[in-house]
Amino acid sequence: MNIIQKRLEEVLKAAFSSCGYDESLGTVVTSNRPDLCEYQCNGAMAGAKKYHKAPFVIADEVAAACADNVIFEKIESVKPGFINITVAPEALAEMLAEVAADGHLLTEQTGTGKKVIMDYGGPNVAKPLHVGHLRAAIIGESLKRIYRYAGYEVLGDIHLGDWGLQMGLIMEELRRRQPDLPYFDPAYEGDYPKEAPFTLSDLEEIYPTASARSKEDAAFAEAAHNATIALQKGVRGYRAIFEHIIALSVTDLKKNYEKLDVHFDLWKGESDAQAFIPDMIADMEAKGLLVESQGAMVVEVQEETDTHDVPPCLIKKSDGASLYATTDLATLVQRERDYHPDEVLYVVDKRQDMHFTQVFRTARKAGIIRPETKLTFLGFGTMNGKDGKPFKTREGGVMRLETLISDINEAALARIKENGSMDDDAAQEVAEMVGLAALKYGDLSNQAGKNYVFDMDRFLSFEGNTGPYILYTIVRIKSILKKYLTEADASMNGSILPAGDASEKALQLKLCGAGAAINDACDDIAPHRICQYIYEVSNAFNSFYHEHRILTESDKERKKSWISLISAALRVLETGIDLLGFSAPEQM
Ligand code: ARG
Repeated sequence: MNIIQKRLEEVLKAAFSSCGYDESLGTVVTSNRPDLCEYQCNGAMAGAKKYHKAPFVIADEVAAACADNVIFEKIESVKPGFINITVAPEALAEMLAEVAADGHLLTEQTGTGKKVIMDYGGPNVAKPLHVGHLRAAIIGESLKRIYRYAGYEVLGDIHLGDWGLQMGLIMEELRRRQPDLPYFDPAYEGDYPKEAPFTLSDLEEIYPTASARSKEDAAFAEAAHNATIALQKGVRGYRAIFEHIIALSVTDLKKNYEKLDVHFDLWKGESDAQAFIPDMIADMEAKGLLVESQGAMVVEVQEETDTHDVPPCLIKKSDGASLYATTDLATLVQRERDYHPDEVLYVVDKRQDMHFTQVFRTARKAGIIRPETKLTFLGFGTMNGKDGKPFKTREGGVMRLETLISDINEAALARIKENGSMDDDAAQEVAEMVGLAALKYGDLSNQAGKNYVFDMDRFLSFEGNTGPYILYTIVRIKSILKKYLTEADASMNGSILPAGDASEKALQLKLCGAGAAINDACDDIAPHRICQYIYEVSNAFNSFYHEHRILTESDKERKKSWISLISAALRVLETGIDLLGFSAPEQM
C-alpha cells in the first residue's frame, strides 16, 4: 500500500476507534475529486447503518477527533458524510524521504521465501521467431523482473518447442536431399560428425520447404510423421540430427532474445520432459485416472461447477506419439522434482486457455504437483495490424521478429536524426534503445489479455503514453543533474523540503506511490500498471519542470531539495522501465 495511505489509515482507524466505532471504517482511498482533496475516507457512510446515525454526524466526530494530527494540512467532513483529506507538505516530504531511503522504494517484499517458475518463451526450434513469440517474451520478462523486485525467487524457463512434427519434417527433407548421410544408415555404428551437415540458413529454408511438401505429398507427410516417432523413440541417427538442430537454433535464439533484453535462466525444452512420461503414465494408470476414449487414453477433467464443456485431457494416442498436454504434464513432474516451485506461471497466447485448464486439472488429479502449488495461466491477446487482424508483413506473410525489430529501429533512427546532432554510431545505439522502448511499452501498456494494434508511429511518438516519452523524461532529468554536477557547490545530499506549490506537491505525492504500484503489478500479474504509474510520474515531473527554473534557483536549500526530488523521480522512472525490460540512453 502507498505509504501515504497507510499513514493516513493509521490515524483514521485510531480516530474511528476512539469515537467508539469499528476501526475498519478508517480505510483511506485516493480522492475521486482531486479538485477538493488528495485522499478521502468513506467509512462514515459505511458505518451509518450499523450505528443508526447520520453519516455526517460520524464524519464530524471522527474528523474532529484527529484534526490536530500533523499529517493533515486539512481534514474536513462534507455532506453527506465523506471525510476529505489534504496531506501536510511537511509530513509528505518526510514520507517521500522514507521512500527514497528504501532499497525497494517501499515495495513490500511479498515474495520472500517463495519460488516461481515462469514459462514464457515457447519458441519453436528450427522455425524463425515470429511476432507471435514477441508478446510472451516481453510480458514474461517484465513479470520476472517485477516478481523479483517484490522478493520472489524466479526461474525463467524458455520451454523450447523442440519435440514436434517440425523435427520429423526437417529430417525427412534432409534425407531426401542427402540420403547418403550416415544418420540415415541404420547399420552405421560409428560416431556422427560434430559439425552439422547444414547451416542455420539452410534450416530456415528446409523447414518451410518441407512443411509445404508435406501438404502436397502424402507419402512425404507420412514419412515425416514416422521420422518424428523415430526421434521420439530415441533412434540414434535421428537423435544426432536433433542435437545439431538444437545447437544451431539455440545459438540463434540466444542472439535474438539478447537483442530484446530478454534472458532465461533455464533453456529446457519439451524434449527434456520426455523421459518422465512413462512413469507418469504408469502412475496415472495405477491411480485409475486413465480411461479410453476413441482409441486414445485420456483423463476426464470436467467438473460439476463448469458452465461450459471441458473436454478430457488427451494423454496418449494409439500410435504412441507424445501430445502437447502430456509433455506439459511431464514438464511439471520434472519441475516439481528439480525445483519444488511454489508457483508455476505460464505466459502463453490466450487461445491456449483450454489446454492449460486441462493440464492444470490433470496435474492436480494425478498429484503431480503439491496441493499448495499455484498454477497460473496468463493468456495474452494477439498483436494486430491496423486492419485489426493478426499482424502480417505487407505481403501477407508471417512477420519475422528480426524484421519487425529492424523496421522499428530504422524508424527510431530517422526520428532521432530529425531531432539532434548525434554522430552516426551514437544515433544508432540510441535508436536501438528507443526502438525497444517503443516496442515493449506499446505492448505492455495494454492489459495483457487484450488484443492491441501495433502502430509504429504512435509507439515511437515522443509525446503521449509511449515508451519514448518516458525515455525523453528520463533523459531530461539526467541532463539537469549532469549540468548541476558541474557547478562548484553541487551536492547531492540535500533533504527534500516541504513542497512550495501545487506541481511540486503533485510530484511528491506521485512518487510516494512507487512501491504500491509495483506491488499491484505483481499481485495482479499486470505490467500495464507500471506503465500507467510511470506515465503519471512523467507527467507530474514535466509539469513541475515547466513551472520551475531548477538550475537558476537562487535559494540554495530549495535548489538542493529540488535536485533530491528529481533524483528520486529519476530513480522511480528508471526502476519502472527496468521492470518493463528496457533502459534509457544518456541523450536522445
Ligand atoms: N511452443 C508453443 C507455441 O509456440 C508455446 C509453448 C508454451 N508453453 C508451454 N508450456 N506449453 O505455441
